[in-house]
Amino acid sequence: MDHGDHVALIRGGAEGAGPQWLELGAGDGAFTLALADVLGGGAITALDLDRRALTALAARLAARFPATRVATFTGDFTRGLPPGPFEGVLAANSLHFVRDPVPVLRAIHRVLRPGGRLVVVEYDADRGNPWVPHPISFARWRTMAPLGGFASPRLLHRIPSRFLGSIYAAATERISDSSVLHSGPHGDDREE
Ligand SMILES: C[S@@+](CC[C@H](N)C(=O)[O-])C[C@H]1O[C@@H](n2cnc3c(N)ncnc32)[C@H](O)[C@@H]1O
Repeated sequence: MDHGDHVALIRGGAEGAGPQWLELGAGDGAFTLALADVLGGGAITALDLDRRALTALAARLAARFPATRVATFTGDFTRGLPPGPFEGVLAANSLHFVRDPVPVLRAIHRVLRPGGRLVVVEYDADRGNPWVPHPISFARWRTMAPLGGFASPRLLHRIPSRFLGSIYAAATERISDSSVLHSGPHGDDREE
């Protein structure tokens, strides 16, 4: 995939959401560059475990999209997120490192403005491998996102991949606080 593919995947989700974004598992910035391109400015907080990758990301952004403000944050997105509020969150090829992404979704919900956008890029598969341990098919993502307080995701774009079939991007919006977000583990959720 090249920059054009990255932009094509996320454009429909990033456009119109607002300028303040958080990216989870940004790596060295392939999708950060695409996001900056779509936003035409904006402010992106890029979070990753890998400090070196984030240093590379910041240099790439500064060289190609100097109008975009970038803050890097070295950390584990399963253990807490920068406080926000953000208007959009992007997770490209990163949620599949988590066996159960629902607690991460609930944490994203807390840092997103009401109506804020969540854009996910994932392999459309439910069986992983050592490199992509827990892929999330679009069908499964549609049932999972509401457990974190999000609307039913819409498919933005799909690109065939020799690796695990295809890669897709989907967008969803944070919906209002509901009982499901303040209950215990999602297996125990119940309506109030
Ligand atoms: C496959 S790379 C994807 C990078 C970039 N988003 C892309 O699509 O090109 C996954 C990235 O997620 C990061 N990552 C994985 N688990 C993470 C976690 N729990 N917290 C923060 N970053 C994580 C890795 O360090 C890596 O940089």
